[in-house]
Amino acid sequence: MFDLILSQVHVMERFTIPNRQTTTVFSFIYLKQLPKETHFNLNRIFAFMSYKHINMKYTIQEKEILFTRHIKKGNTSEVYVCSKNEFVLKKITKFINHNCYNREIYILKLLNDSKFDWCPILIKSLDNENSFIMTYCGEQMNKTNKPTDYKDQITKILNDMKSINLKHNDIKPTEILVYKSKIYLVDFGWASLIDDFSCGVYGISSKEKPCGIFQDNQSLYFCPQ
Ligand SMILES: Nc1ncnc2c1ncn2[C@@H]1O[C@H](COP(=O)(O)OP(=O)(O)OP(=O)(O)O)[C@@H](O)[C@H]1O
Ligand SMILES: [Mg+2]
Repeated sequence: MFDLILSQVHVMERFTIPNRQTTTVFSFIYLKQLPKETHFNLNRIFAFMSYKHINMKYTIQEKEILFTRHIKKGNTSEVYVCSKNEFVLKKITKFINHNCYNREIYILKLLNDSKFDWCPILIKSLDNENSFIMTYCGEQMNKTNKPTDYKDQITKILNDMKSINLKHNDIKPTEILVYKSKIYLVDFGWASLIDDFSCGVYGISSKEKPCGIFQDNQSLYFCPQ
């Protein structure tokens, strides 16, 4: 049975699956070869896989990249990573009226243009889908992966942000990632510039973050578990 599931995954990874019907056809062909009592569970697996695969293929640097692993359902988004852990796809699903999508794109461009290397690089924005693709920045900092100079690295990030009057406003342990011994800060959807949530941009809402602002400095006291 596992061979069967793997072959299904293989088929789906090789072709763009345009919609759920296509997946159903694939499922039906495979299911015909199996006893009836296994159908219910397999159908659920296929439905789950088809949901995860819809519109998850994008062209990046002239290569087709498929986002297969669902990292996290956050408070404002769903986050996926591609199979080679190079790129991350973030789909903003909530707080649309607060313009978290436009704000995050604006701030990432600003940080990238300023050549700060402790944040993801914005690869592609997908305005119609409230989604964007960025570089992969590793895993949450913990006891095992924490760099020996992690406090210095975090201090530098905070100082760099201060130098351009940027506040993140939502730094939690889950936002501090480590990749190849380097610390990255992610998620600028609730950032402000000179305490202005519109960041001085017409079209970005100046409404404050509704569920409490986290002081950026407190990130220095996060103790890796
Ligand atoms: N560039 C990235 N590389 C690797 N992992 C990432 C990246 N961006 C986000 N993640 C992972 O996805 C999680 C959710 O992302 P993010 O914080 O941007 O979304 P969110 O909806 O604001 O989530 P939350 O409400 O939990 O803060 C992060 O905690 C992190 O684990
Ligand atoms: Mg977040």
